[in-house]
Amino acid sequence: PLQAAPELAPYLQVALDAAREAGAVIAAAWNAPKQVDTKAGDADLVTETDKKCEALILERISAAFPAHKFIGEEGSAVQGFTDELTHEPTWMVDPVDGTTNFVHRYPFSCVSIGLTINKQPVVGVVFNPILNELYHATRGGGAFLNGAPITASDTTELRRAVVGTEMGTRRDDGFMDACFDRIRTLGQAARSLRCSGSCALNLCSVAQGRLDAFFELGLGGCWDLCAGVLVLEEAGGRVIDPTGGPFNIMSRRVLGTNAHLAEQVATILAGCKYDPEEPPALPPLQ
Ligand code: IPD
Ligand code: CA
Ligand code: CA
Ligand code: CA
Repeated sequence: PLQAAPELAPYLQVALDAAREAGAVIAAAWNAPKQVDTKAGDADLVTETDKKCEALILERISAAFPAHKFIGEEGSAVQGFTDELTHEPTWMVDPVDGTTNFVHRYPFSCVSIGLTINKQPVVGVVFNPILNELYHATRGGGAFLNGAPITASDTTELRRAVVGTEMGTRRDDGFMDACFDRIRTLGQAARSLRCSGSCALNLCSVAQGRLDAFFELGLGGCWDLCAGVLVLEEAGGRVIDPTGGPFNIMSRRVLGTNAHLAEQVATILAGCKYDPEEPPALPPLQ
């Protein structure tokens, strides 16, 4: 039987199958020469594999659940999706999270497939086909890595914590100043920092206890977050807005921690430099 809340098991099964299938595509392309294009800037990459995997996942999900909405990073937005998240079942899919890692063969890329119902993530699957690590969670059903239950760390003091963050795809001065002020301040407060190139896998790393916390501001979109935040919450972790307020899945930013460190990290971030172009805090979800 699937390790899932029973009413969510059919959705989980489709997500797992699609993630494994797309993962095989990523693994097969890993060592081959790649056609790399840029999107918003030199650090914002996309490959044929990103598009191929998104098309495959969309096909599998829409065949199984034709009435559901679908948001994919590489442009798939069907069933009338606008920027407004609705209460309808909505799949949030990142076909390759960690495209830069994929291009450089740094083995930390994954397929990330999440489902929201009533604006809440209820199913999350994150699969790294290179390390063969498959995380999954359903709301109320726990979080698992390769079928074994996982829980976040019990580190209570930031000075003993390893914290993940990322510098995303922007390289302008306003962003870099704010980003490096946070890195400097948190780097002084924590044991160490890590910057490993996949939002979904960073969130799962907190869920699994490899990291104690992770934050990023200026993410690509909800596809970076949906599956990973559920895995982390189901592993007993906390997911909030980096400003300390409630998390909003459409806000393009996140602070995920074990059960103990959320306020400590948020307090430090609140004292750091502000980037005027960062997306403003959105009102809490209805
Ligand atoms: C990116 C990765 C990266 C994060 C970026 C994301 P992509 O997603 O998650 O770690 O820093 O903000 O856009 O483009 O590799 O799917
Ligand atoms: Ca991208
Ligand atoms: Ca991503
Ligand atoms: Ca991506």
